[in-house]
Amino acid sequence: MQFDFTTLAPRDRYRLLTNFVGPRPIALVTTRNTDGSNNAAPMSFFNVMSSDPPLLVLGIASKPDQEKDTAANIRRTGQFAIHMVDMALSDAMLIAGLAVPMGVDELSLAGVETEPCETIDADRITGASCVFECRTERLLDWPNRVLVIGEVSHMHVRRDCLDAEGRYVNPETYRPIARLHGDSYINSDRQFDLIAPELGDVWTE
Ligand SMILES: Cc1cc2nc3c(=O)[nH]c(=O)nc-3n(C[C@H](O)[C@H](O)[C@H](O)COP(=O)(O)O)c2cc1C
Repeated sequence: MQFDFTTLAPRDRYRLLTNFVGPRPIALVTTRNTDGSNNAAPMSFFNVMSSDPPLLVLGIASKPDQEKDTAANIRRTGQFAIHMVDMALSDAMLIAGLAVPMGVDELSLAGVETEPCETIDADRITGASCVFECRTERLLDWPNRVLVIGEVSHMHVRRDCLDAEGRYVNPETYRPIARLHGDSYINSDRQFDLIAPELGDVWTE
């Protein structure tokens, strides 16, 4: 089948894009509300786009004149923390995805313990596998969308999620989940290696 994205209804573009661009890693984003409380929301329009500078990107939807709390907070403070979602954070992720009013602390609702970040004004979930502290590098605005490009200022990794030397990921303990489509998610239960051939084996000048 062919789909003409220039004439497709927005909900159909959403369905096709999110059904086929996946699995997508999930950022559980924490920000500071105006009253000082925590805000948390999951975002699967999310990925790393550069390591030098270290840039993570979020795509946050909005209704006319009503931004999601995450977008409004990032616009105001320029600071946010991204938790990589794994099974241990999956319940908190679902609760944080509910449309609770601004000022209601989704992390308290989820019953998780928090502590302050090191370099930004946001809280992070105690014991999370991996958290990136970010500052806004730039915002790209559309009427119904903002792309947040964040520069990582600090990273927390739970010790057991790294190998003995503390250099590479330990895939036995770092087990992120990712979004497929709708309510379908995937984890890293079936990891496998793909080894690229030598260039000389496939191409000669
Ligand atoms: C797994 C998952 C992924 C999501 N990804 C996004 C996303 O990438 N962008 C977005 O705008 N909303 C996304 N949402 C919906 C928001 O998390 C939801 O609208 C949330 O209530 C926003 O909270 P806030 O107003 O506190 O920012 C996602 C929800 C779930 C459960």
